[in-house]
Amino acid sequence: MSQTWWRGAAIYQVYLRSFADGNGDGVGDLAGLRARLPYLKDLGIDAIWLNPWYPSPMADGGYDVADYRDIEPDFGTLAEAERFIAEAHDLDIKVIIDVVPNHSSTESAWFREALANPAARDRFWFSDEPANDWQSIFGGSAWTQVPDGQWYLHLFAPEQPDFNWANPEVHREFEDVLRFWFERGVDGFRIDSAALLYKSDTGYEDLDEVHDVYRRWREVADEYGERVLIGEVWLPDQERFARYLRPDELHTAFNFDFLSCPWDPAALRRVIDLTLATHTPIGAPPTWVLSNHDVTRPVTRYGRADTTFEHGGRLHGTPSDPELGYRRARAAALLSMALPGSVYVYQGDELGLPEVENLPDELRQDPMFARSGGANPGRDGCRVPLPWSGDEPPYGFGTGTPWLPQPESWRGLTAQAQRTDPGSMLTLYRTALAIRRDRLGDGTMTWLPLGENVLAFTRESGLTCVTNLGPGPVPRPAGEVVLASGPLEDGALPSDTTVWLTTS
Ligand code: NOJ
Repeated sequence: MSQTWWRGAAIYQVYLRSFADGNGDGVGDLAGLRARLPYLKDLGIDAIWLNPWYPSPMADGGYDVADYRDIEPDFGTLAEAERFIAEAHDLDIKVIIDVVPNHSSTESAWFREALANPAARDRFWFSDEPANDWQSIFGGSAWTQVPDGQWYLHLFAPEQPDFNWANPEVHREFEDVLRFWFERGVDGFRIDSAALLYKSDTGYEDLDEVHDVYRRWREVADEYGERVLIGEVWLPDQERFARYLRPDELHTAFNFDFLSCPWDPAALRRVIDLTLATHTPIGAPPTWVLSNHDVTRPVTRYGRADTTFEHGGRLHGTPSDPELGYRRARAAALLSMALPGSVYVYQGDELGLPEVENLPDELRQDPMFARSGGANPGRDGCRVPLPWSGDEPPYGFGTGTPWLPQPESWRGLTAQAQRTDPGSMLTLYRTALAIRRDRLGDGTMTWLPLGENVLAFTRESGLTCVTNLGPGPVPRPAGEVVLASGPLEDGALPSDTTVWLTTS
């Protein structure tokens, strides 16, 4: 792959706890992932992004990091992580890991030291009383009191104390952490909560100082060549968003506007145009993201009357038509893979898994659920362990009882059941990713005017992507069909269907 492999890559997101369990304890791990590398190779992805794999009390699914230079024992060992990186590289798959610079864990050495010694508190935000009325993003106050009476800031759960980025030691620490993993071969970092690092009297979102951090990180990354920095930047203001992608800062950032966009032709066209208008002038490739470990699975979301996504109002339990959602998720997958730039696939979306909305409350682990007093169901429903094979739970996930229960209805959705089925979601993803590798990815696109309900564009390779979001069939442009997300009618493209054609 070229120096700029990340510009057009298909990146598969592995939520390790739920991917595959190699040691029978019900929790996914590196042994499980290593055993499934051939599956990912066969799927046709270019890179894996792993959610945090560090030692963690798991107060927030690993985003409460206790040690940035080691591996969570439930997941494996550092030596095993190194073996995994080497094995992925042997298969020509890049490895991207998560780094969490906004906050730590109350179990980290630095925080424990701060608790024991008030003179060692400047790496975090301590004060004699809450310095403001900020609320935690997960609900409740953003301040928690320690036994000696002081309070510390946590934008997320109380187990996740925020770092003080005004302290140069924090800068040195993270630059060293980046080096630690670059030296072990990782190809890049996904940067958690990338816009929240600095705090001031007026707020914490997107303060200008944060850009100096990423300029410095970029220098570090560039020392190692061919490494990528990917920002988790939720910012509605495109001008502010683009600042993170300046040539001396991050390489790419997630496109959350696309992810949150309803299944509506005008809204999607607007988001695509806005994305291109934001990225093209600065030369940064767009990313196309439909889903991740924080949001409602597309099959469920697209089957609802309201197809938007918002963290606060997850529309949990609102009726969802499974057939409609499935059809649209297939059409959306082909649309996202045809657009110019890189594309993300969240584990299980290639199997068409729905959101699991009926988890028993006592099994829910996401702090969003408890901290909202149960008002917000949280994100466990998109984190249920994957079904690999067999007719009943644990569906080949491992030999133990999975840490979240899998629905009986997943029998037909296992990777094994779908592997040889030409009409399955898995076959669609595999076929599409193979075509994408040769003919799509990084580049430009040209819209074709095929009516207000139709999104149609051509890529440099001559491949044309047409998605019909209207209520009824529309005429299909002439050309040879390369791939379709659903059955086609004679000369027509049915509702909620995408087709890839060559029109030359
Ligand atoms: C964003 C991550 O994607 C999410 O899972 C996590 O809870 C927050 N950042 C806090 O780290």
